[in-house]
Amino acid sequence: MTIAGYTRLKFETALNQVLSPTTPIRSIEHLRGRDKKLEEIRRSLVQTGRHIFIHGERGVGKTSLAQTAAFEHQPSGAEPILLCCDPSSTFYGVAQDIISRLLTSDPTVIKRITNKKAGLVLQSVLSLESQEIIERGRAPELRSMNETIATISFVAKQHSKKPVIVIDEFERIKDSNQRTLFADLIKQLGDQSVPVVIIFCGVGSSLEELLDAHHSCYRYLTAVCLDRLGYDARLQIIDAALERVEIDVDDTTRYRVATISDGFPHYVHLLTEKLLWEAFDDNEDVKVINVVHYKDAVASAVNDIEPHLKAIYEKATLKYNNDYEQVLWAVADDHQLKRRSADIFECYQRLMQSVGERALSREKFNARMNTLKKPTHGEILKANRQGWYEFREPIVRGYVRLRAEHRGVALGKDHPLEVRIRAS
Ligand SMILES: Nc1ncnc2c1ncn2[C@@H]1O[C@H](COP(=O)(O)OP(=O)(O)OP(=O)(O)O)[C@@H](O)[C@H]1O
Ligand SMILES: [Mg+2]
Repeated sequence: MTIAGYTRLKFETALNQVLSPTTPIRSIEHLRGRDKKLEEIRRSLVQTGRHIFIHGERGVGKTSLAQTAAFEHQPSGAEPILLCCDPSSTFYGVAQDIISRLLTSDPTVIKRITNKKAGLVLQSVLSLESQEIIERGRAPELRSMNETIATISFVAKQHSKKPVIVIDEFERIKDSNQRTLFADLIKQLGDQSVPVVIIFCGVGSSLEELLDAHHSCYRYLTAVCLDRLGYDARLQIIDAALERVEIDVDDTTRYRVATISDGFPHYVHLLTEKLLWEAFDDNEDVKVINVVHYKDAVASAVNDIEPHLKAIYEKATLKYNNDYEQVLWAVADDHQLKRRSADIFECYQRLMQSVGERALSREKFNARMNTLKKPTHGEILKANRQGWYEFREPIVRGYVRLRAEHRGVALGKDHPLEVRIRAS
């Protein structure tokens, strides 16, 4: 067990400080490549009544950006409120959660405020029974938007000057009536200048996918569209981790890790974590990561991946011969998410040539592509009418690249930056 100067405890502590393959990031220091997005949020929140909606593909880093921004903007003396939706969430249920999290646990504070002007609005819209529930420090059941706004406005003041609330995984609420109530909330909070900030997160390529396209709430919302992480940011994650344990890595390995990840930061954290453990487990004193560490790290990451991703890949390929794997590898062999079948076929032919195997005919290849869209094969791919193919869940591409890498096939080498590095 050797990385010079590192006991197991010291190594584990270091690893935990710089890598987070399974937990969202909350600090600017560790959030890579999102400076522009954080600045966008900062500028937007200068105006009272503005709220944020972060959207993008699954796994691109929405929660990390939302939580980092929430901790940045939450005034001192209180923590931001972090909530997550599920398929059974309703608008009034979430609003009740917000209120109970905003409420102070000190009943004397509640009573005092109820007696002041701030409590008057509340008294005019809430039943006596609901007012008593609030006075006992609990959230009352809500029946209307007016009640909701008045109650949030009242309890927010007890939490902090301008509480920040994150409502995550908004896409899991499917009912459009419920979603519209959230849009109404945003508008009403703005119109009534209630000093709270809400940061929503949801999987979707546009905000209109998640909220009623014609709602006037858009005036009050800043949409932050999050893309996959750029190369520099991916490399920063790797470099910071290696620097922390004082070991080096060659450029090829750095770029392979960055490329395999396809911009989904989870893979960068996971592969770097595995690389560092391989170094730590080495019998020799490790100063520089070597190719054996890298190969073993890839194998270990293939095994240790989220079961959901593994299951999709295996459903698509395992029951059948290699044909399907190689077709899938070709689909993942480009930085573009959507590609024409003809371009993928070209890639496929090159790939088969490089491994010295016979390629399927175009007809057979097309048939495989079609089958990969079917439920029998986990619907791993989808295509539009014009014949542009993509992975149903883009995050799966990283796993496909990882599996190919494990079998000695390096995908994604066509990225402009990667080409530049190889040329130099
Ligand atoms: N900008 C970043 N820099 C470094 N690591 C990041 C960054 N963004 C996210 N991560 C890491 O990537 C992983 C996924 O991030 P996160 O959970 O924020 O994504 P998400 O888009 O919310 O995913 P999901 O759609 O599954 O909810 C986490 O392990 C997180 O630590
Ligand atoms: Mg998330």
